[in-house]
Amino acid sequence: MAAVQLGQYPAPGHVVAHLSDPHLLAQGVLQYGVIDTEAGLRLALTRLSRLDFPPQALVFTGDLADKAEPAAYARLREIVEPAAAAIGAEVVWVMGNHDERAAYARGLFDLDDDTPQDRVHDVAGLRIVSLDTSVPGYHHGDLTDDQLGWLADVLATPAPHGTLLALHHPPIPIPMMPAADVIELLGQHRLAEVLAGTDVRGILGGHLHYSTYSTFAGIPVSVASATCYTSDPAPVDRFVSGVDGHQAVTMVHVYADRVVHTIVPLAPAPEVSGFPAEVRAQVEALTPEQRRDLLSRKDSPLYTGEVDVPGTA
Ligand SMILES: [Fe+2]
Ligand SMILES: [Fe+2]
Repeated sequence: MAAVQLGQYPAPGHVVAHLSDPHLLAQGVLQYGVIDTEAGLRLALTRLSRLDFPPQALVFTGDLADKAEPAAYARLREIVEPAAAAIGAEVVWVMGNHDERAAYARGLFDLDDDTPQDRVHDVAGLRIVSLDTSVPGYHHGDLTDDQLGWLADVLATPAPHGTLLALHHPPIPIPMMPAADVIELLGQHRLAEVLAGTDVRGILGGHLHYSTYSTFAGIPVSVASATCYTSDPAPVDRFVSGVDGHQAVTMVHVYADRVVHTIVPLAPAPEVSGFPAEVRAQVEALTPEQRRDLLSRKDSPLYTGEVDVPGTA
């Protein structure tokens, strides 16, 4: 992260990109005849590849393949793995209700396995647990006693920098889309009992196709928007409304004592103000007092137009 600390907080210890619900289809097929799911995924990866401080992990919280087609999982790997390698990021896959365990295991891990797809990743001392909340044949979520026992065993030993729990069905209320209540994670109190007192510092979820935040058992929960289409959280006269817009990913910055989530919309928008990248080095070269004079004073020549900043109009 930044060599020079500009504010009160040091750089975060870990940077994670949280993507969700790519719903990839076999090549050339549009979702609902409209959504190019591959284009949305590529746009997300392109944006992530251009970050000044790249993510160490790309976490995909489920619904990876819309119809669990082997060709879609193959396509997913073809697209994501080279991009992740170029970024220098580990990939964390998570099962969603649109995924099928056997196809997911074969397509992404080269395994013949139709049991729950739960895995543990170590990202430079930050543990990321991928927990499979899917129920074969259904869209709602659940966890078996075996899975909860496995999770308790994993969490019995704290990780050096704590744990992020990644799952598809977020264990939170869904006030802006009551229809999704019917396909929520069942028996959430059982998961809460397992998480109590552990080193889980954040829960990353998907499934809802819009960004929302809450807590669960005292742990912050962040739900990332989808890269394919968005569920409009405030539709007019519609029980549910999926729209082609507002796609986003969420950046997750893990600090020693907290986690910060930042939504990154995928669609480009026209710039109306700003400074070129070179200004960063110039600002870093100043003393804290000089920086405050330049960037905080309302009568700074930067804001009164008395100096020309290269690259700005
Ligand atoms: Fe989804
Ligand atoms: Fe889902």
